[in-house]
Amino acid sequence: MRVVDLIDIKKKGGVLSNEELDFLLDNYLSGKVPDYQMSAFLMSVYFNGMSDDELSYFTLKMRDSGDTIFFDNMEKYLVDKHSTGGVGDKVTVVLGPLLAAVGMATTKLSGKGLGHTGGTIDKFESIDNFKFSSTKDELVNIANKTGVGIMGYSDKIVPLDKKLYSLRDVTATVDSIPLIASSIMSKKLAVQSDLIILDVKVGDGAFMKTIEDARELSRRMVNIGNSLGRKTIAVLTNMEEPLGLNIGNSNEIIEGIEALSGNWSNDLKEVVYTLVYLALKNKGEVSNFSEAEKIIDKAISDGAALDNMRKFIKMSGGNENIVDDYKLLPTAENKLKVVSNYSGYVNKIKAENIGKAAMVIGAGRATKDDIIDHAVGITLYKKVGDFVNKGDILAEIQYNSSKSIEISKKMVLDAYILVDKKVDNKKNILEIIE
Ligand code: URA
Repeated sequence: MRVVDLIDIKKKGGVLSNEELDFLLDNYLSGKVPDYQMSAFLMSVYFNGMSDDELSYFTLKMRDSGDTIFFDNMEKYLVDKHSTGGVGDKVTVVLGPLLAAVGMATTKLSGKGLGHTGGTIDKFESIDNFKFSSTKDELVNIANKTGVGIMGYSDKIVPLDKKLYSLRDVTATVDSIPLIASSIMSKKLAVQSDLIILDVKVGDGAFMKTIEDARELSRRMVNIGNSLGRKTIAVLTNMEEPLGLNIGNSNEIIEGIEALSGNWSNDLKEVVYTLVYLALKNKGEVSNFSEAEKIIDKAISDGAALDNMRKFIKMSGGNENIVDDYKLLPTAENKLKVVSNYSGYVNKIKAENIGKAAMVIGAGRATKDDIIDHAVGITLYKKVGDFVNKGDILAEIQYNSSKSIEISKKMVLDAYILVDKKVDNKKNILEIIE
């Protein structure tokens, strides 16, 4: 077998057999296939795609290139919720303790934020001394005791994805739907769960800008999961404005705690309730949304969800009293109110602009080695559909250094698109694919 022949097959739109994929990928991982040949292969996939079976096997090869995390002592129904990345996306912060309160457990790997999107690891690291599990035993222990098992990605998990992603980054092949699908799913399949729920964000602030692309990515990921015996559901959610009211790190933890206390922004509530409903339905506990709603409402009103948050923070080394006293979290020194120059209805809040406005004041990373400031962020006072008078506050920027504050303010102002006509209620859940 020669690599050049395999590239040629893909170049002409053919399908590689499992043996051919074994040959290509094993030799690439061991360094025998050079980057220039793999680059040609990736570009052929970019143009010609992959069949469903080919993609499932490709994903399995990626998954099996490194360590996997499977448990023999986990009693609970395990849910892995993954987001394709959004702005103000604190769903994991809320969902973990809530799923635990309704009798399930989360087991998942989470990442740090990059660019205009935030990461779960950064948000929780706002809490002094907070440390995520770094071994499988720690993950099992914390998931069994608190129902929330979240671990950071390590280089040992799916090393083939790491190698291929670096190459895709410099060969303009990141935005290939089959390559994105296999990259995400290889990491999901590396950790045991009973159900994978993919929150596929759609819109301005998301990786997938159009519903068509989001649908295709979802279909491919759901097919990979289900074909490999892992129940997988994709929920397409709106990212035409940031999710919830806060963008940053410690302010998103606060918003998450408020949500677990019953104080929600409507969009965050709709997304979280839908995900918990799907988990309860797949576990076989409910048959419709209103049954799930009653169970979720109770877990919030009786304090069970919030208690799980306390337990999770405490077992992770952090001070659980932050739940009752936000002053124990990092707080920015300065605040700037961004005021509207016009009147009108908010039609859109460009999520990418807001994410970048938070990034330039230090809430996010422009490059992966940047140090972030957990205290800073943005709070939205107006959301899509709201009416704004000239002079009303649109948002507040919490900042420490004034170096980029004017740039940030301009980005926030530019993000708000106002129109004269009343704006219809937007949909937060766009589609569910399973
Ligand atoms: N996220 C991933 O993990 N991989 C991709 O290729 C794109 C987004």
